[in-house]
Amino acid sequence: MATSKRQLHLGLFLFSTGYHPAGWRLPEAATDGAFDPKFLQRVARRLEEAKFDFFFLGDALATSADMQYQFPSQMVRLEPFTMIANIAAVTEKIGLIVTANTTYSEPYTIARQTASLDYLSGGRLAWNVVTGMDVRAAQNYSREKHWDNSRRYDYADEFVKIVQELWDSWEDDALIRNKESGVFVDGSKVHQIQHEGEHFSVAGPLNVARPPQGQIPLLNAGTSERSRELGAKLSSAVFTGQILLELSKEFYKDIKTQAVKFGRSTDEVFILPGLVPLVGRTAEEAHAKYRELNSLLVTNYDLTALSARIGIDLSRYPLDGLLPDLSLSTLPGKEAEWLVELAQKAEGKEEITVRELFHYFAATSRGHLLIVGDPEQIADQMEKWFDERAADGFNICPPYMPDGLDLFLDLVVPVLQERGLFRTEYEADTFRGHFGLSRPDNRFARKAALEGVRD
Ligand SMILES: Cc1cc2nc3c(=O)[nH]c(=O)nc-3n(C[C@H](O)[C@H](O)[C@H](O)COP(=O)(O)O)c2cc1C
Repeated sequence: MATSKRQLHLGLFLFSTGYHPAGWRLPEAATDGAFDPKFLQRVARRLEEAKFDFFFLGDALATSADMQYQFPSQMVRLEPFTMIANIAAVTEKIGLIVTANTTYSEPYTIARQTASLDYLSGGRLAWNVVTGMDVRAAQNYSREKHWDNSRRYDYADEFVKIVQELWDSWEDDALIRNKESGVFVDGSKVHQIQHEGEHFSVAGPLNVARPPQGQIPLLNAGTSERSRELGAKLSSAVFTGQILLELSKEFYKDIKTQAVKFGRSTDEVFILPGLVPLVGRTAEEAHAKYRELNSLLVTNYDLTALSARIGIDLSRYPLDGLLPDLSLSTLPGKEAEWLVELAQKAEGKEEITVRELFHYFAATSRGHLLIVGDPEQIADQMEKWFDERAADGFNICPPYMPDGLDLFLDLVVPVLQERGLFRTEYEADTFRGHFGLSRPDNRFARKAALEGVRD
């Protein structure tokens, strides 16, 4: 029997001014894309032309002006549900991921909003479930403090269960709309969920019919045990920030092994690390752009965090002198070496200075792998991570916009397609379809069938 070849899944993680903190300062960069519907629509259409799996919007519930030097793209932006509704209207195939925070919402609200967007997009929605990293959100939502990890994930577990039941509260064929008989709906196929739990009491049914995908796929990202467990149990894809191949392989294996323990197949959950591809037509062009970006960083070169990361107090060395011998590192393992290797590759040379290592660290401090090179070199790296089961695909974070994205789409995607690693046409038009995930049965219909209460 012919089995279809495993292929990469690619999505865009939107940073409207680019992932690199200084991306917006390049002469050619757009600076106001976050609030420009034309810009956002163009990005989505371009992704769809390239046959991307999804367009992903993150979210946070607090901000401050001092984020500008490290996280300008996340400091101010549009609310994701509103924005995705607009993007859904100008696209037809690409999957759309919204982030919604369970800690500061209600299951009925999220069930309605996601089901509505699944209709508006024709079954292209997925929900990135987050419990919130930013403790300042509590002050914006009338809470005394941000809950700890275990309380947030207890709440999220119950929250998600309710949302999933609400999505099923209308069976697929509940709406009869029979003009002759005057029966609009078959009441026996509309269900209260009567949830009474530790944190919520929700009667249901939802006031939106069952979404086109039946169950909207969930995604999540996280590092804690509870977050990994949520991903292994419920998510169709797990996002992660990994800059080291070996650690990503461990993460990949851990999630897949846990998924099997929860009775799932390893093909039901996809591992998608972030990737920041700095693409040039030639390697020289890419390295020059990398240097240009770093020259635009606004920083006081505080070496504290980097010193801790590599186990050597770098403040004792001149910023423009060569790196000290890594055998001086007080850390066990090879993480210091691996980080330096990545920085050397990004610079395109063996001997790098303390300043140059700092640049790589600053550019990746939010946790995603930055690679610099020509299209073949970028594709090689992606293929390696894919083949070695460190990734099933990538959450692409262009370092600057829109040219950083366009170069990836125009030059790297064709290489991946030529190698048979990425689709050349869409074979489906729903989020589930892009990932080969089947549409689940409705739990109430299944129960009725099992109990033999229906013909
Ligand atoms: C690729 C990626 C995207 C994320 N997007 C968001 C987001 O949009 N909003 C948010 O509050 N947290 C986001 N996070 C943070 C995670 O949801 C998670 O809270 C964090 O990694 C800490 O892990 P923990 O929740 O297990 O403690 C993201 C993390 C990753 C790796």
